[in-house]
Amino acid sequence: MKQIRISGGHVLEGTIRISGAKNSAVALVPASLLSDEIVKLDNVPNISDIDALNEILTFLGAKVKRNGELMEIDSSEVENKGIPEHISKKLRASYYFMGALLGKYKKVEMYFPGGCSIGSRPINLHLKGFEALGATVIEEGNKYTIYAEELKGSHIYLDMASVGATINIMLAAVKATGLTIIENAAKEPEIVNVATFLNQMGAKITGAGTSEIKITGVDKLGSCYMEVIPDRIETGTYVIAGALRGKNLKIDNIIPEHIEALLIKLKEMGVKLDVYEDHLMISATDNLKPVNITTQVYPGFATDLQQPITTLLTMTNGTCQLEETIYENRFQNVEYLNKMGADITIKDQSIVIVGPSKLRGTTVKATDLRAGACLILAGLIAEGETVIEEVEHVLRGYENIIEKLTDVGAKIKLEEI
Ligand code: EPU
Repeated sequence: MKQIRISGGHVLEGTIRISGAKNSAVALVPASLLSDEIVKLDNVPNISDIDALNEILTFLGAKVKRNGELMEIDSSEVENKGIPEHISKKLRASYYFMGALLGKYKKVEMYFPGGCSIGSRPINLHLKGFEALGATVIEEGNKYTIYAEELKGSHIYLDMASVGATINIMLAAVKATGLTIIENAAKEPEIVNVATFLNQMGAKITGAGTSEIKITGVDKLGSCYMEVIPDRIETGTYVIAGALRGKNLKIDNIIPEHIEALLIKLKEMGVKLDVYEDHLMISATDNLKPVNITTQVYPGFATDLQQPITTLLTMTNGTCQLEETIYENRFQNVEYLNKMGADITIKDQSIVIVGPSKLRGTTVKATDLRAGACLILAGLIAEGETVIEEVEHVLRGYENIIEKLTDVGAKIKLEEI
């Protein structure tokens, strides 16, 4: 078990460089299986979710070389065998092997994925998409067997603009015969990153980043080199850290357009920040104004930044309301923020935050990835020492978080207990 210990109150000054996006990389790695040749991925974050995907690739017989941020995947000798539950449940994104293996071998056998416990997180839309392409889905408890004689292009409407379902259907459809159209597709930047990658391999995908994606099936996918886009949620997390304790803190290697909703909210609150092409400068401000936030699919305010920004909302002069519309159970951080001295009440799918609060260090728990990020941010401003238990969740998604924060002046360490 691992825990993080933070001594709060230190100014954050210097530069934090943003890593490759977890939610892009975790799709690009399984997607690489669709190629018959060697694929190179650059700017891959060194996080435990990627290690888990690597374990699945290796189990299937792919040859994987990692050299820093560069990952080289040779799937030419892959054997399409059932993926055991103990590896598929290590992370949510193992579900991308469904689309990739189905797309390439017309058959996949695997178990329900894992991931943060933030809601029921069904995969019905992924399965509906596979069925629309002509696949049969057999569910036995947690186990899924999905197969098709032939995958045929189809017109698919998603009841919810799901990131996972959009990507998984793209993966299954790239080698199907004919045209697939995904309506009400998710528009997140990670989807554009995956579509660009597949197109570089020889796929024919248009419309990624809009709500209608068109995929014309091709027979063969070849080699390519692709860079993972910067992580917009990691960016947002450190931007919030800057709003809490920054002094001319530079957040580097970012795509500002990907965090526009956050930047607009911060400006509304009165946070001082200057945005440039690929970086921004941010400093902490007193007298923050309260704001209301509702999470939405992209380009709305990201649900993955909802928990991190809650820490900042505890610092405003007044009452903020924050509504979560994507997941049913993404307020597990609230109990611990309140234990640290915040005044937050949960009302159905919203929370009401009365500020400003003076947070005090104590022992808290990272119940999930972004709850952990929220509590680290709280620890950075709390008086005294904060101990965050079960931080394995955080290490799944934030590359070198201890080093990055230490480099800009935080007093934070990782402990093995
Ligand atoms: N949904 C369904 N049926 C489906 C798929 C989704 O009802 O078949 C619902 C979910 O229950 C949820 C909503 O649709 O209410 C969003 O689901 P989506 O498929 O978009 O989410 P996901 O694929 O499970 C990805 C990210 C999440 C991120 C969301 C939304 C990965 C591996 N995960 O999840 O990331 O919150 O998109 O942007 O890409 C995180 O990084 O902390 C994280 C949870």
